[in-house]
Amino acid sequence: MIQLKNLGFRYSGAERLALDGIDLTVEDGAFLGLIGSSGAGKSTLCYALSGIVPHHYRGDFYGEARIEGMDSAEHRPEELSRVLGCVFQDIDGQMVASVVEDEILFGLENFGVPRDEIEGRVTQALAAAGISELRGRLISELSGGQRQKVAIAAITALRPKIIVLDEPTGELDPRSSRRVFETLKELNEKHGVTIIVVEQKIMLLCEFAKRLAVMEEGRLILEGEVPAVLQSAGRLEAAGVNIPRVTTLARALREEGLYGGKLPLNLDEGEAMMREVLRPC
Ligand SMILES: Nc1ncnc2c1ncn2[C@@H]1O[C@H](COP(=O)(O)OP(=O)(O)O)[C@@H](O)[C@H]1O
Ligand SMILES: [Mg+2]
Repeated sequence: MIQLKNLGFRYSGAERLALDGIDLTVEDGAFLGLIGSSGAGKSTLCYALSGIVPHHYRGDFYGEARIEGMDSAEHRPEELSRVLGCVFQDIDGQMVASVVEDEILFGLENFGVPRDEIEGRVTQALAAAGISELRGRLISELSGGQRQKVAIAAITALRPKIIVLDEPTGELDPRSSRRVFETLKELNEKHGVTIIVVEQKIMLLCEFAKRLAVMEEGRLILEGEVPAVLQSAGRLEAAGVNIPRVTTLARALREEGLYGGKLPLNLDEGEAMMREVLRPC
């Protein structure tokens, strides 16, 4: 479980707080999507969850972050990483090996995974990320999207209790992006891994996440189940957050008095809405 209490952080030299009074509890087994416009503090929140804030970034730190009961101010990021694995937005800063296979092996060995389990975990993580054929390649020769998949495979292979991913599909096409979310779903459902993911592709996120947290200027302005949060569409738009277009359409139809049903969150539900709207009287 993650417990954030009045969490605040101001980067050294910055005028305003990057995190401002965040209160949030993330239960075991959650699948939480984190959204907000650029500069809202999403990456800084990921740093605070992994302990990089306050241990590696200079600044003023307030409040408390507890990860599986460990106070992040008292436990080093290396220690927190035993339970919380993070795929950061800047993946290149996080790669340690030069060959793909070694990147995944290194983590598993560090984690003390039994030798006879390691080979299976590497093969499975590469296959799940769709990069089995990249196993012996040099990371420096890969594209941004391929490197992103390696970083995801390296963390998912470890199966920590909690996985935090900061815009993991930023360099990926729609098909690969979906594949990442399918992998996260399997980890969440089969292995009970808690997932926290920052994602711009709102439609994809809403399909897989169970809850959404919305940030604006360092503050957490909304948190709850996906449909409930999307109901506050006006508030989301004011915060500069994209909402699924089908949801925007539904709101417009409601305002015109043409639709009174529930807000559709994906294309199938959108189709059902349009059938209702267009049904002959
Ligand atoms: N290393 C840093 N030093 C100083 N300010 C930073 C640093 N990283 C981010 N910030 C500032 O903190 C705020 C939140 O940034 P960030 O967490 O990266 O937002 P997001 O990930 O939502 O785009 C922004 O105002 C940004 O300019
Ligand atoms: Mg960011």
